[in-house]
Amino acid sequence: MKEIEYQQHYFPGSRQELLQAVKKSVKAKRYQHILGVEQAALALAAANQVDLEQASVAALVHDYTKNRSDDEFKQAIKQYKLDPDLLNWGNFIWHGVVGAEIIKTELKITDTAILNAVRRHTVGAKTMTTLDKVIYVADFIEPGRDFPDVAMARAIAKSDLDQAVAFETKHTLNYLLNASQTIYPGAMDLYNQLVVKN
Ligand SMILES: [Fe+2]
Ligand SMILES: [Fe+2]
Repeated sequence: MKEIEYQQHYFPGSRQELLQAVKKSVKAKRYQHILGVEQAALALAAANQVDLEQASVAALVHDYTKNRSDDEFKQAIKQYKLDPDLLNWGNFIWHGVVGAEIIKTELKITDTAILNAVRRHTVGAKTMTTLDKVIYVADFIEPGRDFPDVAMARAIAKSDLDQAVAFETKHTLNYLLNASQTIYPGAMDLYNQLVVKN
């Protein structure tokens, strides 16, 4: 795929500069995942009339804070005066919701659509923009992902983005239930919304 050139200033620098910043912020394996998410996001964006540059920036930063310490996130929740209930959750939730604030400060990305896509990429939300859905699904089906249903998830994403969101949400909730893990209310909201819709 041809490398996308940044012209709209969603990030105050070139794609190469953003790549360098992301590479410094995460572990090598995570960086490879991020490049895969960008690739998947660009394909989904093109198929669903989403701005390619916005999709590229959102994909490249979506896991920017994934390898930060719990202490840094707890500090940030206080510093940015976010909902104190967030302190009861963990990295899985924090790197999206809290990560968006850190991305804004460190990378000088202020586009609300991009920041919301980061906030919503792990568990989704009741209301999602097409960009939110592109990042949510790209994260699930990027070329490096390998789990039993991934081929089906990719096929659904190719034909219908909303169906792909529904498939991924059910898959993730099933996994969390089976593993006796807590479920973030936003994830339940999305699930309920999907059940009503379909
Ligand atoms: Fe993530
Ligand atoms: Fe990710």
